[in-house]
Order: sequence, then C-alpha cells, then structure tokens
Amino acid sequence: MVKTIEYLNGVVRMIDQTRLPNETVFIDSTTPEEVGECIRSMVIRGAPAIGVAAALGASLAADRIEADDFDSFYAQLEDDCAALSKTRPTAVNLAWALERMKRFAQDHRDLSVAELKTALRGEACRILEEDVAINRAMGMNGQALLSQGQQVLTHCNAGALATAGYGTALGVIRAAIESGKNISVFANETRPFLQGARLTAWELKEDNIPVTLITDNMCGHFMKEKRIDAVVVGADRIAANGDVANKIGTYMVAVLAQKHGIPFYVAAPVSTLDLSLPDGSHIPIEERSVEEVVTLNKTRIAPEGVNAAHPAFDVTPNELVSAIITEKGVARPPYTESLKQLAGS
Ligand code: MRU
Repeated sequence: MVKTIEYLNGVVRMIDQTRLPNETVFIDSTTPEEVGECIRSMVIRGAPAIGVAAALGASLAADRIEADDFDSFYAQLEDDCAALSKTRPTAVNLAWALERMKRFAQDHRDLSVAELKTALRGEACRILEEDVAINRAMGMNGQALLSQGQQVLTHCNAGALATAGYGTALGVIRAAIESGKNISVFANETRPFLQGARLTAWELKEDNIPVTLITDNMCGHFMKEKRIDAVVVGADRIAANGDVANKIGTYMVAVLAQKHGIPFYVAAPVSTLDLSLPDGSHIPIEERSVEEVVTLNKTRIAPEGVNAAHPAFDVTPNELVSAIITEKGVARPPYTESLKQLAGS
C-alpha cells in the first residue's frame, strides 16, 4: 500500500489525493505554509491524516525558527501552529496534534533550541507512527463486531488514505478479513468530493478487498433488499454525548440503518473525541465551495447562477450510533459515561 504521508529528511511527502485514482502523484512540502495549503486543498484529508500533517508542518516550522531563547522560539512556533490550525475547522485531530506539539515544546523548554528542534521532529514522527498502531488496535477491537460473510457499507474514505496507514473504518474491515472472515464492502460514492468513488474504491481494490461502488442514493435500496449487514464509518469529531460529525451524508446513512435495524458503527481514535463539547450542535461544520456541487470533474452540471450549498460534514445524533470503536475499547450508550471512561483509561 502506498504511503499517505511520510517525513524524509526535511521534506513532508504526501500522495495527492485530489488526483487519485487516475494519477499517483506525490507532493513535497518544506514549509508549514506548503503543508497548510495541502490540508486546505485536500491533497491530504481525513481527520487522523490531517492531524499527522499538521504535526509534521509544526516540525518544519520549528526547524526554520531563528531564535536563541525558548520564549522567542515558542512565540514563533505558536504563530505558525495558529496558522496551521485554521486550515480546516471540523476534524478535531488537527487541533489535537498541534496542541500536542506545543505541549511537547513546553515540557522540553530546558533543551537548547537546536535540541528542541530535533526533539519536535521526533515527536511529529511519533504521532505518525502511533497513528498506524492505533488503527491496528482499533481494528482488532472493532472486527469482533463483524461476522463471517457480512456485507458492510461505508461512507466517504476512512481508510489508509485518511490516516497514516491501515485506516479507521476500513481498518476494522481489514482486521476482520485478516482474522479470517469473508467480508465485502459497499462504498457510497460520497458526493460532492467523491472520496468513496475515488479513494475508498481505489484503496480496497489495491488490497483485493471486494468492493461494490454505489451512488449515495442507492444505499437505502440495498438496505431494504437485505444486502447490507452493518455500517462502519469514521468520524471527524465526537462530542461528549456521542454525537458524531462525519462526512456529509453520514446522517442520512444512519437514519436509513436505524429504519432497517442495521447496526451503525463509528470507528475513531480517542484523539477524535472532543469531550469539551456537550453535544454535536457545538461542532463547527466546514462550508466548502459550491463549485464542488455545481461541477463534476470540472464539468458544469447545473445552470449558471443557481443557488447551491455545500456543508462538508453533518452530525449524526448519538441515538443512531450503535457503538463507537476506539483503540482503547468499544463504547456503547450511554456515551456520556462510556466515552469519559475510555478517554481516561
Ligand atoms: O473532507 P474529508 O475527506 O477530510 O472528510 C473525511 C471524513 O469525513 C472521514 O470520514 C473522517 O475524517 C474519518 S477518516 C479516518
């Protein structure tokens, strides 16, 4: 499997996800501004992956700071982290990773500036490596919820491409398959950015995992026909009560799953929990350009001048969520209790 993001001697290399599946192109960034632009333009996307990118961006920022004392070093690092944190608003992993980098700097303020730069580089690479390990642990916890022969629906891309590797929702599916279960996947195409068609279909095909691509409006039909046994999706931010922000359309899938008595699982690392928010109404929802709605593959599909809207995420209320799978265990309702327990464990 191709690497989503890696650090190579002063360079942050990412696969350009806007060009998949037609072209496999890598983009090299050497400044935090370049990394920030990759996040904003969705060269890299997916909550854990943008957290990793932000951490590596912060390390590039640290590397170029010319300061002799900790306080002036830290003031500049904070400014660069603030700029990186503004690139996308919904996935809390971005802010989480930047906070971790800043806290690390504070905790090591006794080092010389040169030593601190090296240590921050190490911390960013640790965030990357830990992400893969977290996804494997999450996969092990979640795979027990899937049974032999099941057909699983997913929405958007919560796979290796959305993380440093292995994936969250797709990690659960990968782990189930690795444990010997025969699992096949239905992938919603995920209009308007087509993460399902372009990315999920691509990475599952690369791994020879059986996948059937459907348009978003087909999933109710397949549920009614009893062709879907479970839904597994990722998350961008989960509030204290278990409300889940994820790619636009996820709420629709959850409502349909409940109507058909199909379990709806969310797989996300503990870094996606935002227990400071009591419920999902406080989660900032990114508005993206309506150009992505009125065009398809750069071809206009709607009349000039028509009104269009593009919220990039929606919030699925906790009562539609059967379980939240994390690397620390599986949370069940009531989430206010179970998530607090997991986060503190
Ligand atoms: O806009 P995107 O592509 O960054 O949105 C991604 C999603 O909504 C994913 O489902 C979520 O980040 C989980 S990724 C493991």
